[in-house]
Amino acid sequence: MYGEKVANARPDELNYDQYEKKKYDHDIVRVIPGHEEVHKQIPRLLLGINQKKPKILELGIGTGITADIILRRFPKAQYIGIDFSKNMLVGAQQRLEPYKPTLICADYATCKWPIENDVIVSVISIHHQETDRDKKKLFKKIYRHLAAGGIFIFGDLVTFEDKNTAAFNEALHFHHLVENASSRKNLTEWAFHHKYLNCLAPVEKQLQWLQQTGFEKVRLIYHRYNTVLIVANKGHL
Ligand SMILES: C[S@@+](CC[C@H](N)C(=O)[O-])C[C@H]1O[C@@H](n2cnc3c(N)ncnc32)[C@H](O)[C@@H]1O
Repeated sequence: MYGEKVANARPDELNYDQYEKKKYDHDIVRVIPGHEEVHKQIPRLLLGINQKKPKILELGIGTGITADIILRRFPKAQYIGIDFSKNMLVGAQQRLEPYKPTLICADYATCKWPIENDVIVSVISIHHQETDRDKKKLFKKIYRHLAAGGIFIFGDLVTFEDKNTAAFNEALHFHHLVENASSRKNLTEWAFHHKYLNCLAPVEKQLQWLQQTGFEKVRLIYHRYNTVLIVANKGHL
């Protein structure tokens, strides 16, 4: 964790909630190192899904950037996106209009989910679960709500167990923010968000928690500074 944290952030405390779609879409790709690369990997991870209408659940759908990539591959998917920010969901509704996904305004840590999903995906969201316990609990919920043979696609911001590695990647992460923010105000907002509102857990621990939860083939697919992409399979029974 960086700095002093607030308790599990409320939607209106995250700066995403206050930005209109155009601004958020412009910012998120610039301020998250590897955001584009993470999304380029996702279609490849879906190659094993054979159903024409897979059941897909997204945790923290935001304005639908991740969903759009998945729905281009599976336009007939039964797609459910959860987000606790009404503002972000307005953006998702606009972007994903042709696909008619189901959008739910709720806290995914506590709300009810559909069962037997073929894919559960979450990109740049789970780090807002404040404690290790919250993250582990969420991983268990994800496992329970996947069908046998289902996959969990998990992109996120993380830290590292080795303090030198953590410091090195954190420095590069903030350097990236400095290089890519559009103004002093913009840099302040994102630096504040990343310093005080994000609750990063070490990637090594998160890989271990996923394995302990029962996932098979837990793989780290991509890494740039504090950004990672992990994929985990729920085996066939
Ligand atoms: C940075 S956006 C990511 C959206 C998209 N995947 C992308 O990469 O652009 C993260 C989203 O997660 C949502 N979020 C964070 N914690 C949440 C929670 N506990 N329940 C529901 N939504 C949550 C935020 O409101 C935000 O819209």
